[in-house]
Amino acid sequence: MAFRHTMPHARFDVTVPHSARVLDYFLGGKDHFAADREAGDRAIEAFPQLVNGVRANRDFLARAVRFLVGEAGIRQFLDIGTGIPTANNTHEVAQRSSAESRIVYVDNDPIVLTHAQALLASSPEGACAYLGTDLRNPDAILTGAAETLDFSKPVAIMLLSVMHFVTDDDQAAAVVRRLMAQCPPGSALTISHPASDLGPPELREVFRVLNSSGGPEHAVLRDRAQVERFFDGLDLVPPGLVNGWQWRPEDEAPATRDGVVFWAGVGRKA
Ligand SMILES: C[S@@+](CC[C@H](N)C(=O)[O-])C[C@H]1O[C@@H](n2cnc3c(N)ncnc32)[C@H](O)[C@@H]1O
Repeated sequence: MAFRHTMPHARFDVTVPHSARVLDYFLGGKDHFAADREAGDRAIEAFPQLVNGVRANRDFLARAVRFLVGEAGIRQFLDIGTGIPTANNTHEVAQRSSAESRIVYVDNDPIVLTHAQALLASSPEGACAYLGTDLRNPDAILTGAAETLDFSKPVAIMLLSVMHFVTDDDQAAAVVRRLMAQCPPGSALTISHPASDLGPPELREVFRVLNSSGGPEHAVLRDRAQVERFFDGLDLVPPGLVNGWQWRPEDEAPATRDGVVFWAGVGRKA
């Protein structure tokens, strides 16, 4: 697996929570510290169904990748805000359908970098590479990704549960525009984003807890119109921008809908 990053001397501070490790805690992983567990427990206390939503987001990722490889015929993925590797990472789902799929993972958290290096191993026919780069620097992402992906062929840009960390609406829209501008027709954009207009008030409390926990990140909820703006100039594939569980459901149990409060959609570039 190719392995490059642009934060060679980065250190992570385990005394404050970080989204990648809090997510790992929610998903039952092993790569979290006391500060992550404390913040995670306070968030779950505020909104006990939260973990259902987190799992439903991973289910959406898998359904979207199956659609992108299958119906859309895409073989290249740029997955930004990867998170600590867990079950059904993008390359696993994609390469199960098409072994030659090529994936570039991007995250700005050094601990994700360490685990990705060890765990995100490609099929021999395909490729996996990892970039330690910030989403707010799309040019660096595109330059690094071009060593593994061929931008003359369709690319699926995956922004799952990460855009809410780019808190300025105009900057967030500009980042997405820049990424999609580099991709040829036939490419796709997949986004999931915690919703301000779907959930109960408890979700706001979760964000208040996580934003005040002393970690380096700040995150915002967005409403449907704010998330739809990221798809400007693209064609949303049916069923459009919907609550996560409603996007081409397969066989999820109804229980997973409880606490699922994120906007989810896939757009195609004509
Ligand atoms: C909530 S997790 C989502 C992980 C995975 N995409 C998923 O949907 O399950 C957010 C991830 O985005 C990363 N992240 C947050 N802000 C970022 C930024 N500005 N640039 C790159 N990665 C970022 C975090 O380190 C974390 O791994």
